[in-house]
Amino acid sequence: MDNAPKISGQEKSNVSFVLRVSCVAALGGLLFGYDTAVIAGAIGFLEKKFLLSPAMVGWVASSAIWGCAAGVLLAGRFGDVLGRKKALILTALLFGLSGIGSAVPNNLTVFIIARFSGGLAIGAVSMLAPLYISEIAPASIRGRLVTLYQLAIVLGINLIYYVNLEIEASGDLLWNIEMGWRWMLGSETIPALLFLFLMFFVPESPRWLIAKGDESAQNILQRLHGDIAGRRVFNDIVASLKNEKVSIMELFRPTLRAPLAIAVVLAFFSQVTGINAIIYYAPEILKRTGIATDSAMMQTFMIGLVNTLFTLVALWLVDRLGRRKLLLLGVSGMALCLFGTGYCFNFNITGGPWLLIFILGYIACFASSLGPIPWIIMSEIFPNRTRSMAMSVATVILWFGVIIVTQLTPILLDSIGGAWMFWIFMINSLILFTFTWLRVPETKGLTLEEIEMRWNDKQQGPGLRTNERLQI
Ligand code: GLC
Repeated sequence: MDNAPKISGQEKSNVSFVLRVSCVAALGGLLFGYDTAVIAGAIGFLEKKFLLSPAMVGWVASSAIWGCAAGVLLAGRFGDVLGRKKALILTALLFGLSGIGSAVPNNLTVFIIARFSGGLAIGAVSMLAPLYISEIAPASIRGRLVTLYQLAIVLGINLIYYVNLEIEASGDLLWNIEMGWRWMLGSETIPALLFLFLMFFVPESPRWLIAKGDESAQNILQRLHGDIAGRRVFNDIVASLKNEKVSIMELFRPTLRAPLAIAVVLAFFSQVTGINAIIYYAPEILKRTGIATDSAMMQTFMIGLVNTLFTLVALWLVDRLGRRKLLLLGVSGMALCLFGTGYCFNFNITGGPWLLIFILGYIACFASSLGPIPWIIMSEIFPNRTRSMAMSVATVILWFGVIIVTQLTPILLDSIGGAWMFWIFMINSLILFTFTWLRVPETKGLTLEEIEMRWNDKQQGPGLRTNERLQI
């Protein structure tokens, strides 16, 4: 492809280092997926062990998600004060502790507290990992490297589904009620320890170091980008940090209003277009159509597979086609498939292959666009000085979207039914398409400082427009 990302010779020699560092940070995504999805396998046994009422089942299942919103806010601050690396190390510790904490209790309150702490870690990592990757990545492959994080989320979800099934199959019902769920939740500590250990071997974000006046950033940048590019990036970062003072009021400055609006809308709509209704409730939704439990499980497995494969498509395309084109294509595909899914529900067309085709089509379109792209854009469109704070605002909104969808899906299925639920997600996709068309700029190939400069220019001149021709 003629517009494939161009990597200079010197950059190439450093790409393997960048890749290793990004993979370590992306492990945070694996924990995110693993620890959010673990509850799907454990909840049935917890219900019996603790004799939960239906309302309590909802609370126990969502206790981690509430922790996420709080975790994001804490992480924005910690990421600025301690640095991205130390904040990620603390997060890894918290993951490990909450894994053990939620495996041992015989008391429901202790369990909920442990899951809530796990949620703090999930929320924190959900902003710190993409932010960190974005800050160490060379511009030409930044989209791909942040997509690695999304790939890790998806792999984490798939892995825990498999681990849960294996654990469940290894004992009878009584054993599962007493012990099975403990192994499921306790298994979280293994990836957490791996993440904790490897985080000691990655460098601090050079952009954070420069903000703190630490000169060692120059060496790290040269290691990441090569000698010449490293020095140039160093100077650009220094220039971008001229006005040191950061306060929450920065978020309301005119130059930040536009990127903040874009990040918040993308974050929110990445959720209210329905992905987690399918990821978390697929067997439940499919059973409602009369599909047998066994084949509902099989179809859930296919959803995981398609999600993984098409995230690889995003990995391949996001720095070639660019964020904007890929998003427009993906979201229109999602709207189409959501229409089809709603249609199948409305007219009870559930016997043949169509329902599955539409659901898998939707997952494929999401995975190759709206899955990774909001994480990428949120981690790259803010100025160096305010990135951590601004990204945490957008990520909190994302988690509110997750809460809304996970709480409302069972209610919507019972009240307005599957057809209208999917059509509402379709309408939201169309709103997102229009917003992207009008407002979301292309950022592929630009350094974080170039993006920052263009927002500033927009005050006076052409700046960062949605018209891609301006970008190249
Ligand atoms: C994205 C979404 C997340 C979802 C995942 C599924 O990361 O933000 O909510 O669970 O994709 O692939």
